[in-house]
Amino acid sequence: MLDGKKTLFSGMQATGNLTLGNYLGALKNWVTISDEYQTFFSVVDMHSITVRQDPAELRRRARTLLTLYIAAGLDPEKNCIYYQSHVSGHAELAWILNCFTYMGELNRMTQFKDKAAKHADNINAGLFTYPVLMAADILLYQADVVPVGIDQMQHLELTRDIAIRFNNLYGEVFTVPEAYIGKAGAKIMSLQDPAKKMSKSDENPNGSIYLMDDPDTIIRKFKRAVTDSEACVRYCEEQPGIRNLIDIYCACTGKTPQETEKEFEGKGYGDFKMAVGEAVLSVLKPLQERFADLSKNKDYLDRVIKENAQKAQYFSNKTLRKVQKKVGFPDRIR
Ligand code: TYM
Repeated sequence: MLDGKKTLFSGMQATGNLTLGNYLGALKNWVTISDEYQTFFSVVDMHSITVRQDPAELRRRARTLLTLYIAAGLDPEKNCIYYQSHVSGHAELAWILNCFTYMGELNRMTQFKDKAAKHADNINAGLFTYPVLMAADILLYQADVVPVGIDQMQHLELTRDIAIRFNNLYGEVFTVPEAYIGKAGAKIMSLQDPAKKMSKSDENPNGSIYLMDDPDTIIRKFKRAVTDSEACVRYCEEQPGIRNLIDIYCACTGKTPQETEKEFEGKGYGDFKMAVGEAVLSVLKPLQERFADLSKNKDYLDRVIKENAQKAQYFSNKTLRKVQKKVGFPDRIR
Protein backbone atom coordinates (compact mmCIF):
# COMPACT_ATOMS: atom_id res chain seq x y z
CA MET A 1 0.00 0.00 0.00
CA LEU A 2 1.55 3.32 -1.08
CA ASP A 3 -0.22 6.67 -0.55
CA GLY A 4 -3.35 4.77 0.47
CA LYS A 5 -3.52 2.95 -2.87
CA LYS A 6 -2.77 -0.63 -3.77
CA THR A 7 0.25 -1.17 -5.99
CA LEU A 8 0.33 -2.38 -9.58
CA PHE A 9 3.40 -3.58 -11.47
CA SER A 10 3.75 -4.70 -15.06
CA GLY A 11 6.32 -4.75 -17.82
CA MET A 12 7.03 -5.59 -21.43
CA GLN A 13 10.12 -6.74 -23.21
CA ALA A 14 11.79 -4.36 -25.61
CA THR A 15 12.28 -7.21 -28.06
CA GLY A 16 10.83 -7.23 -31.56
CA ASN A 17 7.97 -5.05 -32.72
CA LEU A 18 5.03 -4.76 -30.38
CA THR A 19 1.91 -6.55 -31.59
CA LEU A 20 -1.81 -6.07 -31.23
CA GLY A 21 -1.64 -8.98 -28.74
CA ASN A 22 0.64 -6.94 -26.45
CA TYR A 23 -1.69 -3.99 -26.75
CA LEU A 24 -5.02 -5.74 -26.20
CA GLY A 25 -3.70 -8.28 -23.70
CA ALA A 26 -1.74 -5.84 -21.56
CA LEU A 27 -1.14 -2.18 -22.42
CA LYS A 28 -4.80 -1.30 -22.98
CA ASN A 29 -5.76 -2.77 -19.58
CA TRP A 30 -2.90 -0.95 -17.90
CA VAL A 31 -4.41 2.34 -19.02
CA THR A 32 -7.95 1.34 -17.98
CA ILE A 33 -7.07 0.39 -14.41
CA SER A 34 -4.04 2.59 -13.70
CA ASP A 35 -5.97 5.35 -11.89
CA GLU A 36 -6.97 2.99 -9.09
CA TYR A 37 -3.39 2.07 -8.21
CA GLN A 38 0.06 3.33 -7.42
CA THR A 39 1.69 2.03 -10.61
CA PHE A 40 5.07 0.92 -11.92
CA PHE A 41 5.40 0.16 -15.63
CA SER A 42 8.82 -1.06 -16.63
CA VAL A 43 10.51 -1.53 -19.98
CA VAL A 44 12.18 -4.80 -19.05
CA ASP A 45 15.38 -4.49 -21.07
CA MET A 46 17.28 -6.83 -18.74
CA HIS A 47 14.91 -9.63 -19.74
CA SER A 48 15.59 -8.91 -23.40
CA ILE A 49 19.26 -9.94 -23.31
CA THR A 50 18.34 -13.55 -22.46
CA VAL A 51 18.15 -13.72 -26.25
CA ARG A 52 21.00 -12.20 -28.30
CA GLN A 53 20.30 -8.55 -29.20
CA ASP A 54 21.92 -5.95 -31.39
CA PRO A 55 22.89 -3.26 -28.80
CA ALA A 56 21.90 -0.20 -30.86
CA GLU A 57 18.64 -1.84 -31.85
CA LEU A 58 17.80 -2.80 -28.25
CA ARG A 59 18.39 0.79 -27.12
CA ARG A 60 16.15 2.08 -29.90
CA ARG A 61 13.38 -0.41 -29.19
CA ALA A 62 13.51 0.29 -25.46
CA ARG A 63 12.93 4.00 -26.11
CA THR A 64 10.15 3.22 -28.58
CA LEU A 65 8.45 1.03 -26.00
CA LEU A 66 8.72 3.62 -23.25
CA THR A 67 7.25 6.23 -25.60
CA LEU A 68 4.43 3.84 -26.52
CA TYR A 69 3.48 3.43 -22.86
CA ILE A 70 2.93 7.18 -22.71
CA ALA A 71 1.25 7.34 -26.15
CA ALA A 72 -1.22 4.67 -25.02
CA GLY A 73 -2.42 7.02 -22.29
CA LEU A 74 -0.23 6.45 -19.23
CA ASP A 75 0.65 9.85 -17.77
CA PRO A 76 4.29 9.61 -16.58
CA GLU A 77 3.59 12.18 -13.86
CA LYS A 78 1.14 9.73 -12.28
CA ASN A 79 2.63 6.40 -13.40
CA CYS A 80 6.21 5.42 -12.79
CA ILE A 81 7.42 4.50 -16.29
CA TYR A 82 11.08 3.49 -16.36
CA TYR A 83 13.82 1.22 -17.73
CA GLN A 84 14.45 -1.88 -15.63
CA SER A 85 18.22 -1.57 -16.20
CA HIS A 86 18.24 1.88 -14.54
CA VAL A 87 17.14 0.45 -11.20
CA SER A 88 19.79 -1.75 -9.61
CA GLY A 89 17.39 -3.44 -7.18
CA HIS A 90 15.95 -5.74 -9.87
CA ALA A 91 19.24 -7.61 -10.30
CA GLU A 92 20.02 -7.54 -6.58
CA LEU A 93 16.69 -9.01 -5.52
CA ALA A 94 16.77 -11.51 -8.40
CA TRP A 95 20.02 -12.93 -7.03
CA ILE A 96 18.54 -13.41 -3.58
CA LEU A 97 15.36 -14.98 -4.97
CA ASN A 98 17.46 -17.33 -7.13
CA CYS A 99 18.54 -18.88 -3.85
CA PHE A 100 14.89 -19.51 -2.94
CA THR A 101 13.79 -21.03 -6.25
CA TYR A 102 14.22 -24.67 -7.22
CA MET A 103 15.64 -25.99 -10.47
CA GLY A 104 12.61 -28.27 -10.73
CA GLU A 105 10.27 -25.27 -10.68
CA LEU A 106 12.19 -23.51 -13.44
CA ASN A 107 12.38 -26.73 -15.48
CA ARG A 108 8.59 -26.76 -15.67
CA MET A 109 8.29 -23.30 -17.27
CA THR A 110 6.79 -23.70 -20.73
CA GLN A 111 8.18 -20.39 -21.97
CA PHE A 112 11.71 -21.61 -21.16
CA LYS A 113 11.09 -24.83 -23.07
CA ASP A 114 9.73 -22.91 -26.07
CA LYS A 115 12.55 -20.38 -26.11
CA ALA A 116 15.24 -23.01 -25.56
CA ALA A 117 13.90 -24.89 -28.57
CA LYS A 118 13.91 -21.71 -30.65
CA HIS A 119 17.42 -20.61 -29.59
CA ALA A 120 19.12 -23.99 -29.27
CA ASP A 121 22.56 -22.40 -29.84
CA ASN A 122 22.18 -20.05 -26.85
CA ILE A 123 20.46 -21.76 -23.93
CA ASN A 124 22.05 -19.50 -21.33
CA ALA A 125 21.54 -19.46 -17.55
CA GLY A 126 19.69 -16.14 -17.83
CA LEU A 127 17.05 -17.72 -20.05
CA PHE A 128 16.59 -20.41 -17.42
CA THR A 129 16.33 -18.03 -14.44
CA TYR A 130 14.29 -15.45 -16.37
CA PRO A 131 11.15 -16.10 -14.24
CA VAL A 132 13.11 -15.29 -11.08
CA LEU A 133 14.00 -11.86 -12.46
CA MET A 134 10.32 -11.42 -13.26
CA ALA A 135 9.43 -12.37 -9.68
CA ALA A 136 11.97 -9.82 -8.44
CA ASP A 137 10.39 -7.10 -10.65
CA ILE A 138 7.01 -7.70 -9.09
CA LEU A 139 8.00 -8.33 -5.46
CA LEU A 140 10.40 -5.38 -5.37
CA TYR A 141 7.45 -2.97 -5.42
CA GLN A 142 5.18 -5.08 -3.19
CA ALA A 143 2.72 -5.24 -6.09
CA ASP A 144 -0.82 -6.32 -5.26
CA VAL A 145 -1.87 -6.63 -8.88
CA VAL A 146 -0.08 -7.58 -12.10
CA PRO A 147 -2.03 -7.08 -15.35
CA VAL A 148 -0.77 -9.56 -17.98
CA GLY A 149 -1.97 -11.74 -20.83
CA ILE A 150 -2.69 -15.42 -20.20
CA ASP A 151 0.76 -16.52 -21.44
CA GLN A 152 2.39 -15.00 -18.32
CA MET A 153 0.19 -16.83 -15.80
CA GLN A 154 2.69 -19.60 -15.14
CA HIS A 155 5.39 -17.06 -14.28
CA LEU A 156 2.99 -15.26 -11.99
CA GLU A 157 2.11 -18.47 -10.16
CA LEU A 158 5.83 -19.06 -9.59
CA THR A 159 6.20 -15.50 -8.27
CA ARG A 160 3.44 -16.19 -5.76
CA ASP A 161 5.10 -19.47 -4.69
CA ILE A 162 8.46 -17.74 -4.17
CA ALA A 163 6.83 -14.94 -2.15
CA ILE A 164 4.92 -17.39 0.05
CA ARG A 165 8.05 -19.51 0.58
CA PHE A 166 10.08 -16.46 1.60
CA ASN A 167 7.32 -15.18 3.90
CA ASN A 168 7.04 -18.57 5.59
CA LEU A 169 10.74 -18.41 6.43
CA TYR A 170 11.12 -14.75 7.37
CA GLY A 171 7.69 -13.32 8.22
CA GLU A 172 5.45 -11.08 6.09
CA VAL A 173 8.09 -9.53 3.83
CA PHE A 174 6.40 -9.70 0.43
CA THR A 175 2.89 -8.91 -0.74
CA VAL A 176 1.62 -11.98 -2.61
CA PRO A 177 0.48 -10.59 -5.99
CA GLU A 178 -2.65 -11.41 -7.99
CA ALA A 179 -2.82 -11.51 -11.79
CA TYR A 180 -5.25 -9.21 -13.54
CA ILE A 181 -6.52 -10.68 -16.81
CA GLY A 182 -8.71 -8.45 -19.00
CA LYS A 183 -12.22 -9.51 -20.03
CA ALA A 184 -11.36 -9.52 -23.73
CA GLY A 185 -8.07 -9.92 -25.58
CA ALA A 186 -6.15 -11.92 -22.94
CA LYS A 187 -4.92 -14.31 -25.63
CA ILE A 188 -4.83 -12.99 -29.16
CA MET A 189 -3.86 -15.64 -31.68
CA SER A 190 -1.92 -15.46 -34.96
CA LEU A 191 -4.03 -14.38 -37.95
CA GLN A 192 -2.35 -17.09 -40.01
CA ASP A 193 -2.50 -19.92 -37.46
CA PRO A 194 -5.17 -19.50 -34.79
CA ALA A 195 -3.63 -22.33 -32.75
CA LYS A 196 -0.55 -20.16 -32.10
CA LYS A 197 -0.38 -16.96 -30.02
CA MET A 198 0.23 -13.71 -31.90
CA SER A 199 3.88 -13.06 -31.19
CA LYS A 200 6.59 -10.46 -31.79
CA SER A 201 8.93 -13.22 -32.89
CA ASP A 202 6.64 -14.90 -35.47
CA GLU A 203 8.56 -15.44 -38.73
CA ASN A 204 5.40 -14.86 -40.74
CA PRO A 205 4.65 -11.11 -40.57
CA ASN A 206 1.10 -11.70 -41.85
CA GLY A 207 0.25 -13.53 -38.63
CA SER A 208 0.76 -10.44 -36.47
CA ILE A 209 -0.57 -6.89 -36.52
CA TYR A 210 2.25 -4.62 -35.41
CA LEU A 211 1.31 -1.45 -33.56
CA MET A 212 3.17 0.62 -36.14
CA ASP A 213 1.64 -1.06 -39.23
CA ASP A 214 0.10 1.42 -41.66
CA PRO A 215 -3.67 1.28 -42.38
CA ASP A 216 -3.33 -0.53 -45.73
CA THR A 217 -1.17 -3.23 -44.20
CA ILE A 218 -3.60 -3.70 -41.31
CA ILE A 219 -6.61 -4.10 -43.61
CA ARG A 220 -4.67 -6.41 -45.94
CA LYS A 221 -3.61 -8.67 -43.05
CA PHE A 222 -7.20 -8.96 -41.83
CA LYS A 223 -8.45 -9.73 -45.34
CA ARG A 224 -5.93 -12.59 -45.50
CA ALA A 225 -6.71 -13.90 -42.01
CA VAL A 226 -7.27 -17.66 -41.90
CA THR A 227 -10.91 -18.60 -41.23
CA ASP A 228 -12.98 -21.69 -42.16
CA SER A 229 -15.69 -22.84 -44.54
CA GLU A 230 -18.64 -22.45 -42.12
CA ALA A 231 -19.46 -18.98 -43.53
CA CYS A 232 -21.04 -17.96 -40.25
CA VAL A 233 -19.75 -15.51 -37.60
CA ARG A 234 -20.06 -17.65 -34.49
CA TYR A 235 -18.03 -17.65 -31.26
CA CYS A 236 -17.10 -21.30 -30.75
CA GLU A 237 -14.16 -23.68 -30.30
CA GLU A 238 -14.74 -25.26 -33.72
CA GLN A 239 -14.06 -21.93 -35.51
CA PRO A 240 -10.79 -20.76 -33.91
CA GLY A 241 -9.97 -18.22 -36.64
CA ILE A 242 -13.35 -16.50 -36.40
CA ARG A 243 -13.28 -16.75 -32.63
CA ASN A 244 -9.95 -14.91 -32.59
CA LEU A 245 -11.32 -12.18 -34.88
CA ILE A 246 -14.35 -11.81 -32.59
CA ASP A 247 -12.00 -11.50 -29.60
CA ILE A 248 -10.08 -8.74 -31.38
CA TYR A 249 -13.29 -6.98 -32.40
CA CYS A 250 -14.69 -7.13 -28.84
CA ALA A 251 -11.46 -5.92 -27.26
CA CYS A 252 -11.43 -2.92 -29.62
CA THR A 253 -15.12 -2.01 -29.47
CA GLY A 254 -16.15 -3.09 -25.97
CA LYS A 255 -18.91 -5.28 -27.47
CA THR A 256 -19.57 -8.85 -26.29
CA PRO A 257 -19.19 -11.94 -28.50
CA GLN A 258 -23.00 -12.39 -28.43
CA GLU A 259 -23.57 -8.82 -29.65
CA THR A 260 -21.00 -9.39 -32.37
CA GLU A 261 -22.65 -12.62 -33.56
CA LYS A 262 -25.96 -10.72 -33.83
CA GLU A 263 -24.41 -7.76 -35.63
CA PHE A 264 -22.96 -10.01 -38.35
CA GLU A 265 -25.83 -12.47 -38.64
CA GLY A 266 -26.35 -13.33 -42.30
CA LYS A 267 -23.22 -11.41 -43.36
CA GLY A 268 -20.16 -12.92 -45.03
CA TYR A 269 -16.61 -13.18 -43.73
CA GLY A 270 -15.49 -10.41 -46.10
CA ASP A 271 -17.72 -7.84 -44.34
CA PHE A 272 -16.75 -9.10 -40.92
CA LYS A 273 -13.01 -9.02 -41.61
CA MET A 274 -13.32 -5.49 -42.92
CA ALA A 275 -15.17 -4.42 -39.76
CA VAL A 276 -12.50 -5.98 -37.54
CA GLY A 277 -9.79 -4.18 -39.53
CA GLU A 278 -11.63 -0.85 -39.15
CA ALA A 279 -12.11 -1.41 -35.41
CA VAL A 280 -8.38 -2.06 -34.99
CA LEU A 281 -7.53 1.01 -37.06
CA SER A 282 -9.73 3.20 -34.88
CA VAL A 283 -7.67 2.11 -31.87
CA LEU A 284 -4.21 2.14 -33.44
CA LYS A 285 -4.43 5.37 -35.46
CA PRO A 286 -4.64 7.73 -32.46
CA LEU A 287 -1.92 5.70 -30.73
CA GLN A 288 0.40 6.10 -33.72
CA GLU A 289 -0.31 9.84 -33.93
CA ARG A 290 0.44 10.42 -30.25
CA PHE A 291 3.57 8.31 -30.60
CA ALA A 292 4.82 10.44 -33.51
CA ASP A 293 4.21 13.66 -31.54
CA LEU A 294 5.87 12.42 -28.38
CA SER A 295 8.91 11.09 -30.23
CA LYS A 296 9.76 14.64 -31.32
CA ASN A 297 9.95 15.76 -27.71
CA LYS A 298 13.37 14.46 -26.71
CA ASP A 299 13.86 16.68 -23.65
CA TYR A 300 10.50 15.72 -22.22
CA LEU A 301 11.18 12.01 -22.62
CA ASP A 302 14.67 12.33 -21.17
CA ARG A 303 13.25 14.06 -18.10
CA VAL A 304 10.61 11.32 -17.66
CA ILE A 305 13.32 8.65 -17.95
CA LYS A 306 15.53 10.31 -15.36
CA GLU A 307 12.90 11.27 -12.79
CA ASN A 308 10.99 8.02 -12.89
CA ALA A 309 14.14 5.92 -12.54
CA GLN A 310 14.89 7.85 -9.35
CA LYS A 311 11.37 7.27 -8.08
CA ALA A 312 11.53 3.53 -8.85
CA GLN A 313 14.94 3.30 -7.20
CA TYR A 314 13.57 4.94 -4.06
CA PHE A 315 10.58 2.58 -3.69
CA SER A 316 12.51 -0.54 -4.66
CA ASN A 317 15.25 0.19 -2.10
CA LYS A 318 12.72 -0.01 0.71
CA THR A 319 11.94 -3.66 -0.10
CA LEU A 320 15.52 -4.52 -0.97
CA ARG A 321 16.95 -3.29 2.35
CA LYS A 322 14.29 -5.22 4.25
CA VAL A 323 15.05 -8.43 2.36
CA GLN A 324 18.82 -8.01 2.73
CA LYS A 325 18.38 -7.65 6.47
CA LYS A 326 16.11 -10.69 6.70
CA VAL A 327 18.58 -12.99 4.93
CA GLY A 328 21.42 -11.83 7.17
CA PHE A 329 23.49 -9.35 5.14
CA PRO A 330 25.45 -7.01 7.45
CA ASP A 331 24.00 -3.55 8.20
CA ARG A 332 25.36 -0.65 6.17
CA ILE A 333 27.49 1.81 8.16
CA ARG A 334 26.13 5.34 7.67
P1 TYM B 1 6.01 -9.86 -23.24
O1 TYM B 1 6.95 -8.73 -23.48
O2 TYM B 1 6.17 -11.10 -24.05
O3 TYM B 1 4.52 -9.37 -23.42
C1 TYM B 1 4.05 -8.19 -22.79
C2 TYM B 1 2.61 -8.38 -22.37
O4 TYM B 1 1.79 -8.70 -23.50
C3 TYM B 1 1.03 -9.88 -23.24
N1 TYM B 1 0.88 -10.61 -24.51
C4 TYM B 1 -0.30 -11.00 -25.02
N2 TYM B 1 -1.56 -10.85 -24.57
C5 TYM B 1 -2.56 -11.34 -25.35
N3 TYM B 1 -2.37 -11.97 -26.52
C6 TYM B 1 -1.11 -12.16 -27.01
N4 TYM B 1 -0.91 -12.76 -28.17
C7 TYM B 1 0.00 -11.65 -26.24
N5 TYM B 1 1.35 -11.64 -26.42
C8 TYM B 1 1.86 -11.01 -25.34
C9 TYM B 1 1.86 -10.65 -22.23
O5 TYM B 1 1.07 -11.55 -21.49
C10 TYM B 1 2.42 -9.53 -21.37
O6 TYM B 1 1.48 -9.16 -20.38
N6 TYM B 1 7.88 -11.86 -19.08
C11 TYM B 1 7.08 -10.78 -19.60
C12 TYM B 1 7.59 -9.40 -19.27
C13 TYM B 1 7.79 -9.16 -17.81
C14 TYM B 1 6.77 -8.91 -16.86
C15 TYM B 1 7.45 -8.72 -15.62
C16 TYM B 1 5.38 -8.81 -16.94
C17 TYM B 1 8.98 -9.13 -17.15
N7 TYM B 1 8.78 -8.85 -15.84
C18 TYM B 1 6.73 -8.46 -14.45
C19 TYM B 1 4.67 -8.56 -15.77
C20 TYM B 1 5.35 -8.38 -14.54
C21 TYM B 1 7.04 -10.90 -21.11
O7 TYM B 1 7.91 -11.46 -21.72
O8 TYM B 1 6.00 -10.23 -21.69
